[in-house]
Amino acid sequence: MAQKIVAGNWKMNLQFDEGEKLVNEILEGKRSNSVSVMIFPPALYVQHFSELGDGRISIGVQNFHVHESGAYTGEIAIPQIKSAGGSIGLIGHSERRGLFSETNADLKAKVDAAIANDFKFIFCCGEPLEIREAGREFSYVKSQLEESLFHLTASQMAGKILAYEPVWAIGTGKTATSAQAEQMHAEIRSWITDNYSDEVANSVSILYGGSCNEKNAREIFACPNVDGGLIGGASLNSESFLEIINAF
Ligand code: PGA
Repeated sequence: MAQKIVAGNWKMNLQFDEGEKLVNEILEGKRSNSVSVMIFPPALYVQHFSELGDGRISIGVQNFHVHESGAYTGEIAIPQIKSAGGSIGLIGHSERRGLFSETNADLKAKVDAAIANDFKFIFCCGEPLEIREAGREFSYVKSQLEESLFHLTASQMAGKILAYEPVWAIGTGKTATSAQAEQMHAEIRSWITDNYSDEVANSVSILYGGSCNEKNAREIFACPNVDGGLIGGASLNSESFLEIINAF
């Protein structure tokens, strides 16, 4: 069975003390142990927050470099993240793809670096508006997965976490309908079956992201192929984030 996950991507928001308060409120308010809660704060805060979380929530990074050390000014390596308590990283968020020109080939290298370092990740995919308007969203997302992820072996692919985040829904207040989310998630799972097996496909968690909030989470999470959410804006407030966690 795929793990149920609610993950908060803070992006470049919140000062340290605001973040600390939010983490404490989430730790106090989290009821269910059947949902894994993950938080992706600015990397600077990872060590302190993972000490605060003490294993009750996972603390991750929004980005990492493919090399393990060396002359890469401004970058952070997976062994460094792990040594500071970070346990997971985002790969391929649409803002990294769009604003920082990360290509499917770059993301494949990050996937390989994560595997080599035994580091968990959430692999993000999703189509921009013009692709959906042209009716090409399925082939577009499929290529993102084929070019960056589907080279993994079945045992490497088992239990992985994907996030489908239509770019037109991120930070826009325009959520995909639950039918649109379910349709893409079902397709993604069927491609995993085609490339691997039913068993692997059913072990992969597929999260929805894009203006998911406390009002729509329950309906989206009720879809059979949606295993949780990657939440941006609504993860910056403990009340809404806790409601989303408790929407399962
Ligand atoms: P949003 O962001 O919830 O603010 O739309 C989601 C994301 O970028 O992961």
